[in-house]
Amino acid sequence: MTPRKTRILTGITTSGTPHLGNYVGAIRPAVAASRMAGSESFYFLADYHALVKVAEPARVQRSTLEIAAAWLACGLDPDQAWFYRQSDIPEIPELTWLLTCVAGKGLLNRAHAYKAAVDRNREAGDDDDAGINAGLYMYPVLMAADILLFDADKVPVGRDQVQHIEMARDFAQRFNHLYGEHFVLPEAVIEEQVATLPGLDGRKMSKSYDNTIPLFAPQATLRKLIAGIVTDSRAPGEAKDADGSNVFQLYQAFASAAETDAMRREFELGIGWGEAKQRLFERIEAEVAPLRERYEALIADPRQIERQLRDGAERLRAQYATSRLRDLRDAVGLRDLSRRPGTDRATAAKAAAPQFKQYREADGRFHFKLVDAQGKLLLQSKGHASAREAGQLVARLKREGGAGLHFVKAVGVHIGEALVGDLAEGAAMEEVVAALSGFAEDAA
Ligand code: TRP
Repeated sequence: MTPRKTRILTGITTSGTPHLGNYVGAIRPAVAASRMAGSESFYFLADYHALVKVAEPARVQRSTLEIAAAWLACGLDPDQAWFYRQSDIPEIPELTWLLTCVAGKGLLNRAHAYKAAVDRNREAGDDDDAGINAGLYMYPVLMAADILLFDADKVPVGRDQVQHIEMARDFAQRFNHLYGEHFVLPEAVIEEQVATLPGLDGRKMSKSYDNTIPLFAPQATLRKLIAGIVTDSRAPGEAKDADGSNVFQLYQAFASAAETDAMRREFELGIGWGEAKQRLFERIEAEVAPLRERYEALIADPRQIERQLRDGAERLRAQYATSRLRDLRDAVGLRDLSRRPGTDRATAAKAAAPQFKQYREADGRFHFKLVDAQGKLLLQSKGHASAREAGQLVARLKREGGAGLHFVKAVGVHIGEALVGDLAEGAAMEEVVAALSGFAEDAA
């Protein structure tokens, strides 16, 4: 079996005009990743998410067009990456419901965006949930469906979205625990250096702060906006703090390491703000100008973009989404009534192979067990502090198979130096080794 390619997935909410923060934080790294061999990329327009915040149809439509054109202009090739619109994949809202039914309400209560809205209401002396739609509340579940439907391994996002990925993992684990191993647990990827780009006022560049620099603003507008970036009042000739400066951080996001070092020295030597901003403008313009030209051509022909998006969704449904939902519906019991329970394909396939099952005990620690093809318990792990730690040990066992395994009487089963856990009562080491050999073959 060839190893499955790493799946990279991310979405942009279609509620605004693409800005430099989107470009640096999402579009640019995503397009680069889509060109890497060994990975399969999924990039989409999160237009259902847009409805949570925007009740202006024309704006949703315009934003969807602009963002689609931006990704294409920045080099995304729809033959190399899956490129689609969320609302063209009905399996996403369908999966949202299945996940809603395993999502802990308490967990959703703690989502940052929802909590911030509640805090604002409290400050204003309003009812906790005044003016909050249930879409905001369910936002993380819809996002989990986006990710889990395609078994994404890596999800590039801004730091503010990391909690949503954690939630997606949580929902996936609960679903897997209840219905068998269906979902891969996704991981957030943050491009450390440029994870959050400062906006004009120094706060994170975000459409909600109204401090953005549009990615494809005309040259003159770009220059004007950059001139308006907030700085301290140090005069030319005075040394300036590079790391504390928005101008410097923006520059760094577009410059090479060597250029950044040179600019840092200029700051120490007291470059004037006007000059620093001019250099920033030139650096950004050099990168953006050729993209802007392509963007304008694309925007002028919306039919072409519409065709590409529909085509992407259609192929993606045919290749993954439709059959995926068929399996998931089956897993939860939304089934053909004429089929006897226990004779369906999912159950049969599961019964035919040994399995690791991960779960969490009441003490909060993470465990797993290994069962053979008939469901007999073979191995019971010790508790782990995190799901990740337990998962890594499972991965190692799958990878190394029975080779590195040994049994220490009265202590337990080890792989190399690491203690795995206890051999189940009535199970033999040979059975563990035999069960593990299947995983190693799969991986080979
Ligand atoms: N919530 C993300 C944002 O606002 C957009 C998004 C929707 C997304 N679904 C996603 C990102 C799935 C990554 C994966 O930035």
